[in-house]
Amino acid sequence: MKKVAMFGLGFVGLPLALSFSIRGCEVTGVDIDEELVKQLNQGHSHHLEVYEGRSLVEILQEQLAAGRFHAVSDGSTAMQECDNIIVTVGIPVEGNQHDMKPLIEVCRTVGQGLKKGDLVLIRSTVIPGTTRDIILPILEEESGLKAGSDFYLAYSSERIAEGRAFHEFEHMPAALAGLNEECSQRAFNLMSIVTKAPIMQASSMEVVETSKVMENISRDVNIAMSNEFTRFCKNIGIDIFEVIETANTHQRVNLLTPGPGVGGYCLPNALYYLLPKAQELDVGLPLLQTARQVNDEMPRYVADLVLRNLPVPPSQARIAALGLAMKDYSNDDRMSPALAVIAALEKAGCEVRAYDPAVPNQYPFKFSRLEEAVKGAHGIVLLTRQHELDEIDLNLLKGLMATDGKPFIVDTKNQYNPELVRQHGFQLERL
Ligand SMILES: NC(=O)c1ccc[n+]([C@@H]2O[C@H](COP(=O)([O-])OP(=O)(O)OC[C@H]3O[C@@H](n4cnc5c(N)ncnc54)[C@H](O)[C@@H]3O)[C@@H](O)[C@H]2O)c1
Repeated sequence: MKKVAMFGLGFVGLPLALSFSIRGCEVTGVDIDEELVKQLNQGHSHHLEVYEGRSLVEILQEQLAAGRFHAVSDGSTAMQECDNIIVTVGIPVEGNQHDMKPLIEVCRTVGQGLKKGDLVLIRSTVIPGTTRDIILPILEEESGLKAGSDFYLAYSSERIAEGRAFHEFEHMPAALAGLNEECSQRAFNLMSIVTKAPIMQASSMEVVETSKVMENISRDVNIAMSNEFTRFCKNIGIDIFEVIETANTHQRVNLLTPGPGVGGYCLPNALYYLLPKAQELDVGLPLLQTARQVNDEMPRYVADLVLRNLPVPPSQARIAALGLAMKDYSNDDRMSPALAVIAALEKAGCEVRAYDPAVPNQYPFKFSRLEEAVKGAHGIVLLTRQHELDEIDLNLLKGLMATDGKPFIVDTKNQYNPELVRQHGFQLERL
């Protein structure tokens, strides 16, 4: 029966904390967001994760009742209670600049409460070198203890996709490295409680840190290529989704799907974790920077697709934007390209009314019912898939829309059946 302190109770930390508690560990979750802590202790969460047919909220309530999970905002109590400390607090990026403050702050708290024999396992995505060069000195300075002998330090990247977290903590192969062999072993033993897939032990923490950033950037670059091909295919009049489906029948090709951009906390940030280190080492990253730029330009491209279908000037146009999450079936709208598309449309003068049944964040342009968002709109732009949006009642929606001009749908997901859409009197624009 291990005692685990989970620092950071966000998209990664909360389901990871519950993954340990459902397997019998006593878990104290720590988050500086006091409102979040209160909500969690009352059994509330907006997370959409599911495990073996049960929602995260059901699991949370069960674990609270069993006394195996509780949340606190004061990290020092958790440090007194637990000897396995997992950190999932990340490095935000604002205006292409990373911010180390949250991670440094959490490491100070952990360092101040560190006891002999404790394990500190970092699972955040970090700039290569962070665990050894930044975290280790803070932990040693704050605790007066020696890493590798008095306490154990290891890094293991977190690879889950939101919405599949419980399953992937268990079944996704993991990579891990400790400061020394003992550190690796301690971390391996802890992770093995949840992870049943192979846990690869790499030769250094820097290998795992760099591999994680590379994994994220590889997806960013792959999507950038699909996005670039999107423009090419559109101009020669073929369907990019069909091209990708065809290309992917080649057994050594795995192209990802294009879309209105690449969002979320992980993929767009990865380049900005690598750039400072690359600059320090005087290494250029031209391919990766170009890929980022290609993906950053997609919201503008999608906004232009909408604008060119408008039957009225932008200042008289109303657009219904469906889906705000940063990716399909997610409730996470951090750095969502959908928000960038909306900003571009508003900048062009359009009125935008958005709808996303999964995203909890509120915006002045967000409506709580699909019908409200679509009412009086000249066009609909589908930006993110959500189950409720997968099949829309075209008859009903068309009846609600503006009548000055032919209504249109810009389908950035190639979700809707073109025949059906056209039969219902819509003009259709796909990626
Ligand atoms: N979201 C994903 O799908 C995903 C997948 C793999 C890896 N990651 C990585 O995992 C890390 C966490 O990502 P996330 O999406 O869970 O972030 P998140 O923003 O959802 O959660 C981070 C939490 O940390 C809390 N926090 C900030 N400072 C703190 C402190 N000093 N003490 C305690 N809590 C503090 C915040 O209040 C927040 O609730 C990041 O490094 C991210 O890159 C995320």
